Amino acid sequence: MKILGTGSALPKKIVTNDMLSEFLDTSDEWIVPRTGIRSRHIISDEKIEDLGAQAALSALEMSGLKPEDIDYCICSNVVSEYVTPGLSCVIGAKIGLKCPCIDINCACPGFIYALDIAETHYIAGKVRNVLIICAEQPTRMCDWTDRSTCVLFGDGAGAVVLGPGSNVKGIKLHSQLDATKIWERNSLMPTPYYEGDNRAIGLQMNGREVFKFAVKASTSDVEDLLNELGMTKDQVDWYIVHQANYRIIDAIKQYLGEPDGKFPINISDHGNSSSASCTILLDECNKSHMFKEGNTLVFSAFGAGLLSGVAVLEW
Ligand code: ACO
Repeated sequence: MKILGTGSALPKKIVTNDMLSEFLDTSDEWIVPRTGIRSRHIISDEKIEDLGAQAALSALEMSGLKPEDIDYCICSNVVSEYVTPGLSCVIGAKIGLKCPCIDINCACPGFIYALDIAETHYIAGKVRNVLIICAEQPTRMCDWTDRSTCVLFGDGAGAVVLGPGSNVKGIKLHSQLDATKIWERNSLMPTPYYEGDNRAIGLQMNGREVFKFAVKASTSDVEDLLNELGMTKDQVDWYIVHQANYRIIDAIKQYLGEPDGKFPINISDHGNSSSASCTILLDECNKSHMFKEGNTLVFSAFGAGLLSGVAVLEW
């Protein structure tokens, strides 16, 4: 497939590290050197489905396609207010889609997993135009008394419209399954019969283990896929890496031996917006005319599962 349009939407409320330190035992001096994050956009009176719809309409406008031209919509989302229907259906109804819609929950690498589904359906001849929406609100998953997690996240949505083409050169997905390193538990409706513990538990994370997984998975994913495609790092123009933590991106850069200039960054004023991060960064780079036709883009993302993925695309 080929990327025909990109879009993104962010909540209007911007929260700085100093604003967090008004109610949490934390500081800009602690957060910046460990994460690279200075501020983030946080949902207040918006709904994630409205941000998703705004991002999708913006990507559609750039693509020149109409909602009825889309054959399949994939929404990557970890939490929304809806258990059912899927967020893809909620957003699809808002923007006038007429096609089947599915949700996936692959956490931070969700965009790459969605791209893999889109490309596989395209190669099978089942679709022509696909809309991917990554709409995430990780700030609604955190325990806001836990300074070790809530300072890391921001909310937002990114979208990509894909159409016919052979620009996806390769995709590689990877797992190291372990549900104890990043998890959150929902509260479900009580029944007269269920006897288990039904309390919600906010996001839990073993930061150091996740850090190690992220760096190792991303570097080996990138090197393995480039090798499989018979490509070298010299041929890569841009790395669009999940914006989880500046130090993670910096370590990936060092291991790959690649220069700073190939890694656009927006973590400092966005925080970690889970699967939306790669698509928001992509849209911001695209709108600032950073990519030239024929450029090679490598997407790499990693997160809960533990899952990771990499994709190589020609722009
Ligand atoms: N402000 C001040 N102090 C803090 C804060 C904070 N926000 N958070 C933790 N601390 C304290 C801890 O309580 C601890 O204090 P103690 O030594 O008195 O017990 C101390 O700082 C060190 O805590 P660590 O957790 O060991 O700090 P570390 O250096 O590992 O940094 C961090 C934590 C930034 C989370 C790091 O582990 C990390 O970036 N991990 C990657 C995980 C990640 O990015 N996850 C994002 C979600 S998943 C994904 O997208 C891949």
